[in-house]
Amino acid sequence: MKLSEKKNKVNQFFFDLKKILKKNKKPFFLHEPHLDHRDEIYVAKCVNSKFISTAGQFTKKFEDEIKKFTKSKYVLSLINGTAALHLALVVLDIKENEEILIPSMTFVATGNAVLYNKSIPHFFDINEDLTIDLIKLNNYLEKNTKIKNGKCINKNTNRVISAIIPMHIFGHMCDMNKLKKLALKFKLLIIEDAAEALGSFYRNKHAGTFGQIGTLSFNGNKIVTTGMGGAILTNNKKLYLKARHLAATAKVKSKWDYIHDVLGYNYRLPSLNAAIGCSQMKKINFLINKKRKLFQIYKKAFEGSDFFTLISEQPNTKSNYWLQTVVLKPKFKDLTKMILSKCYDNKIYIRPAWKPLHKLNYFKKFPKMNLDKTNSLSLRVINLPSSSILSK
Ligand SMILES: Cc1ncc(COP(=O)(O)O)c(C=O)c1O
Repeated sequence: MKLSEKKNKVNQFFFDLKKILKKNKKPFFLHEPHLDHRDEIYVAKCVNSKFISTAGQFTKKFEDEIKKFTKSKYVLSLINGTAALHLALVVLDIKENEEILIPSMTFVATGNAVLYNKSIPHFFDINEDLTIDLIKLNNYLEKNTKIKNGKCINKNTNRVISAIIPMHIFGHMCDMNKLKKLALKFKLLIIEDAAEALGSFYRNKHAGTFGQIGTLSFNGNKIVTTGMGGAILTNNKKLYLKARHLAATAKVKSKWDYIHDVLGYNYRLPSLNAAIGCSQMKKINFLINKKRKLFQIYKKAFEGSDFFTLISEQPNTKSNYWLQTVVLKPKFKDLTKMILSKCYDNKIYIRPAWKPLHKLNYFKKFPKMNLDKTNSLSLRVINLPSSSILSK
């Protein structure tokens, strides 16, 4: 492709994007939080109560809101989504040196949490639509593992593969029925990394409620934010109670004694953060509707493009469309950097894909299947401005 042709393609993309965003004010961030007077009222209420830390009333209230929305039986709010993932592994008693299947195309937190637990990340590939390639994973596990004493053993490393962490990328869920079947066949626990998927559903069931544990994030860039925050979802009371105990430094209930019965963590969400979360949850349906509308606007503008595909929700799923995403056709993979540069120069802050985890130095030594699709997609994925206010 000639340089002039490349420039034309990039300019065309830029002008199309600018046209869509034109009614809004610059700069265009990737994802702005939706904060208004109501959030201020909740924060003020919390401050006035004087209980701004974990003993305050809003932590429990926020958990109840998440419970109602996700229909998860138990919800434990935590300081962030990374802590939620780490605690999920601890609570499920995943041992050191057990392998955990994770996507390589994910935010680094998914892999870091596995390493915090001293377990071994084992990377799997994705489809062109960015969801888990379940067929490839099934074939790979059939070839490379055996079941012994009810456990999945990696024939190449002799280690147990004990769990899989599906990550609902940018809010999009895969075929969860098929994923559950695969987990059952290979004796794997499921921890859903639903950090990006609050408000996403598969067959009307909320993300994070399919496996033993699901985790959420309420970071400032998520649909609903608590500034920083996360949560564990589970339907298992024992797991919930264990998580609650460990997240509060494993302190044994007592009037005044400080007894901690095991090694715990200081992971609970403060009431001050939860107060914003309570106010945010009042508008979650409004925010998701706005984001779904924004997808329709992008779709209308970009339909039939020979340059890229706009990622849309999978059959039987309802996506929250957290981040709007295009995937350049393979022959245009060299243009990603030019597009980023053109948009950044004009204060449109789009984003490339994460560098795949298996390519980060400290993850290079860990087991992986063939990751051709991940490698290719990582050069072609672009997230577009996705704030809910953009659809006004
Ligand atoms: C896929 C994924 N997993 C985990 C996390 C970690 O969440 P947190 O930033 O709240 O620690 C995030 C995002 O922030 C994420 O996108």
